[in-house]
Amino acid sequence: MDIKNEVSRRRTFAIISHPDAGKTTLTEKLLLFSGAIHEAGAVKNNKIRKTATSDFLEIEKQRGISVATSVMTLDYTGMRINILDTPGHKDFAEDTYRTLTAVDSVILVIDSVKGVEEQTRKLMEVCRMRATPVMIFINKMDREGKDPFDLLEELENELKIAACPYTWPISNGSRFKGVFNLSTESIQLYNTGKNNLPEMFLNTRDIEDPLLKEHIGETNLTNLWEEIALAIDLFESFHKNLYREGYLAPVFFGSALNNFGIPELFETFLKIAPPPSGSKTLERVVLPEENVFSGFVFKIHANLDPNHRNRMAFLRVCSGRFERNKMYYHTRLGKKMRFAAPASFMANDTNMIEEAFPGDVIGLYDTGKLKIGDTLTEGESLHFTGIPSFSPEILKEVVNKDPLKTKQLEKGVMQLTDEGLAQLFVQQPGNIKIIGTVGELQFDVIKFRLEHEYGAKCDFRALPFVKACWLTSANKQKINEIIGRRAGTIAFDKSNTPVFLAESDWMLKIVKQAHPEVQFHNSSEYKAQIKTSNTDYE
Ligand code: G4P
Repeated sequence: MDIKNEVSRRRTFAIISHPDAGKTTLTEKLLLFSGAIHEAGAVKNNKIRKTATSDFLEIEKQRGISVATSVMTLDYTGMRINILDTPGHKDFAEDTYRTLTAVDSVILVIDSVKGVEEQTRKLMEVCRMRATPVMIFINKMDREGKDPFDLLEELENELKIAACPYTWPISNGSRFKGVFNLSTESIQLYNTGKNNLPEMFLNTRDIEDPLLKEHIGETNLTNLWEEIALAIDLFESFHKNLYREGYLAPVFFGSALNNFGIPELFETFLKIAPPPSGSKTLERVVLPEENVFSGFVFKIHANLDPNHRNRMAFLRVCSGRFERNKMYYHTRLGKKMRFAAPASFMANDTNMIEEAFPGDVIGLYDTGKLKIGDTLTEGESLHFTGIPSFSPEILKEVVNKDPLKTKQLEKGVMQLTDEGLAQLFVQQPGNIKIIGTVGELQFDVIKFRLEHEYGAKCDFRALPFVKACWLTSANKQKINEIIGRRAGTIAFDKSNTPVFLAESDWMLKIVKQAHPEVQFHNSSEYKAQIKTSNTDYE
């Protein structure tokens, strides 16, 4: 088996968006277009629907179903494409951020009516941190949205990326007809055809084609040429290298619901999106073409079957060939492990696989030995980096409601936070446990799971903090100073890194000024992965 060949034909990416921009619809249309699914609904039905916060059980149920769509693998014209799904619900944003550590590129969906939204900005921040190549799909062009020039400017200003129009919309709202492709200098006009698939009824490079006037109208056509000339003047032209370096984002216009602009997006994606490349570890850069296998865990899905407490760990293969039943080295535990039933996913199916290659994401059934950030190799002691945890926005103290079950509570809190459900910080004196999340929903989930899986009872006490910043300094003395002077607002994460808990951005600014030699970070690496003992829960 030629690993190089397997690497070069793989494309692993995520479709991301602010909730409701059209991520689910676009994913489904790409799957339909590629022939991976044959009827609409397969992805849509698995979407975590908007539910009242209190109804977290329903959300957990839906989340359970959506395990099968966590990764969608499809083959198209000799390429192996892995689409990593990200939860749309904003309370699961942390899950989405981590999924971005396992992709080689992303497609960002923007609603043409709403433009850049809160979650879009946060997601782009994570992409920028990792210099992930980004393609942008401006969706819902069938609605009376913002002007395309304004949208492109907004993307540049708010997302801090050079926007390069790759296609240009022909009108919008009810007059939206199709797109002009600036790369091929051709026009594609669409209809929705059989089986709800896009039907291109005109694809021409001849600007005198009489059908153009007939379908677009003379005035609209004149406007189109003027707009395109201006767009070429105002925005960067496409350069594959700049895109792959994460500096420039090609922008596509369309309507996922009506299938407009999907083929341009997908075919360009296949042409320009990068295959897997080198991954950083603490020790060295691992190249995908290397003969020996390595990979890391970026997501854990628990509660597949509450009776057996089993979980599925999602592993991204970074180099070599993964084989079923082969012994692999778990670098954090210093132990060998074997996986008898590794799984791959497609729409509603989970299939056992015999092998996997760089770029692939596989599901490993686990009984609690794997944590986010864990590395598996063929024996080399490697630790993949770049799997950060981000500052939580809600912080609450765990209040033990049943002193007889303290041990169970401690174990539960440790394990649930290992899954990435929330973050754990400990404050001294008193060993106070603080849970940090990006959404309220997680507190309901933790409380419920502690009770039902560990037999422990707890409540949460609201704390006045809105942010946690990890502290570092070249001068250790300065860290000790801040810990000593601000004990009430200092806690420690699981790897014992000090964290400053801020009550407001204003307070954070004041404290930063008071401690100029200390750096305050909004994210931290999962340092827990470099521990080598197995004494965590004992
Ligand atoms: P998400 O995964 O990003 O949260 O968005 P999703 O695809 O579920 O789309 C959100 C809503 O926007 C859906 O409507 C969907 O039908 C609609 N939508 C998606 N693409 C387009 C488009 O190109 N044009 C227009 N006009 N609407 C679009 P909904 O009413 O919330 O759900 P549903 O009842 O249609 O399923």
